[in-house]
Amino acid sequence: MNIKDKVVLITGSSRGIGRKAAILYAEQGAQVIVTYCKSKEEAEQVFSACNVHAKAYLARLDVGDSSSIQELVEKVKSEYGGLDILINNAGVLTEKLFAEQTPEEIRSQVEVNLLGLMNTICAFLPLLEGQDEAVIINVASRLAKKIVERKAVYAATKHAVRAFTQSLALELPPYIRIYCFNPGLTATGMTNYQGADPLQVAQVLLEAGKETLGKKSGEDIDVDELLARVR
Ligand SMILES: NC(=O)c1ccc[n+]([C@@H]2O[C@H](COP(=O)([O-])OP(=O)(O)OC[C@H]3O[C@@H](n4cnc5c(N)ncnc54)[C@H](OP(=O)(O)O)[C@@H]3O)[C@@H](O)[C@H]2O)c1
Repeated sequence: MNIKDKVVLITGSSRGIGRKAAILYAEQGAQVIVTYCKSKEEAEQVFSACNVHAKAYLARLDVGDSSSIQELVEKVKSEYGGLDILINNAGVLTEKLFAEQTPEEIRSQVEVNLLGLMNTICAFLPLLEGQDEAVIINVASRLAKKIVERKAVYAATKHAVRAFTQSLALELPPYIRIYCFNPGLTATGMTNYQGADPLQVAQVLLEAGKETLGKKSGEDIDVDELLARVR
């Protein structure tokens, strides 16, 4: 897909991978909708960096709150009339033994990583359906395919995101493609800045939106494997 002038919504684009991706998409002429939940100042910086390249939009979005999602749907509908690329990137992680996780930590991971992603797709689907072609990218994780300790709830949400993506691909019309984007450990606030450069991960996320990676709808985009090939 040629992304110039395309309307691209990235959930959780105030920080980390989403932040880097927002700026890369804008550099290529996409009209990026930058969203934050708590990090307003960081998001304002991202908005300004995007707006230099192409008209950007800044909005608060809490994917755990259906009314917040619906408010943004109405704004996007009146501002743009449709949506070309939806990147479900917002995510939270509590890394500790399951027995030590509080009910609130468990709830929040399921609510943001899984329910929030599903509700966002459900709410924005009419705006994607109105376009000639559209792309949904669900940011899961390499832990969508692998099991490790201390991330039981997080891994469960990411496995579910992967299954949901594969299943939804069978239901969507052919002009809406959906991908499961699986980064490995990436140096963001989520990991205390351990891991791969988030800019490199965001570069793969850009190619995913442009659909240059030769993937079929529903397939995995395994970031570590792709980065290893170019190293
Ligand atoms: N870092 C890694 O090693 C790694 C590996 C595999 C997959 N991932 C996945 O990649 C995605 C991005 O992670 P990251 O590493 O960039 O994390 P990050 O730096 O911690 O950023 C998380 C983003 O999610 C947003 N967010 C959190 N709760 C939200 C909510 N309720 N509603 C809307 N937005 C919310 C945050 O917004 P505010 O700050 O504005 O609240 C922030 O912009 C996540 O889905 C994560 O699971 C990360």
